[in-house]
Amino acid sequence: MSIKKNIKEQQKQSIESHKVIVIHGPNLNMLGEREPDKYGTVTLSDINNGLVKLGEKLGLIVETFQSNHEGLIVDKIQETSKIYQGVIINPAAYTHTSIAIRDALLLLEVPIIEVHLSNIFKRENFRHKSMISDIATGTLCGFGHLGYYMALEAISNLLIK
Ligand code: DQA
Repeated sequence: MSIKKNIKEQQKQSIESHKVIVIHGPNLNMLGEREPDKYGTVTLSDINNGLVKLGEKLGLIVETFQSNHEGLIVDKIQETSKIYQGVIINPAAYTHTSIAIRDALLLLEVPIIEVHLSNIFKRENFRHKSMISDIATGTLCGFGHLGYYMALEAISNLLIK
């Protein structure tokens, strides 16, 4: 094995136990059927399966969670601090309204990547405001489902450093 490959392998092993949670907010369970012109035709389970597979390649354990209920999302974020080393979150409509989700995320000391399938800045004015962008490590929007994979790559890079 070349030295470069060996170092990569060692890095992969050193983050092997890192767990990442991907949290999807309301109505994202309807992806595939829901406004495909804006959100695409890929389903949530396709995205989740793709994330788990990519996680395996990157040496990360990926778990996923979807809820239509703000309080359940807050509960999940509260659990996160003890279990996961990274968070990817698309709070969907709660992005624009939820101080509760923002406050829960403020409890965390791990990288948080905000993802939106659509480019929220190209849409209605009320979608331009995100309650979490200024506390997230980074935000990806407008890349459709690929944004989730980009977010996982980003977390992997942040955890390796
Ligand atoms: C969304 C954008 C939100 O404005 C909207 O309410 C969603 C999905 C996105 O992924 O583009 O439900 O978060």
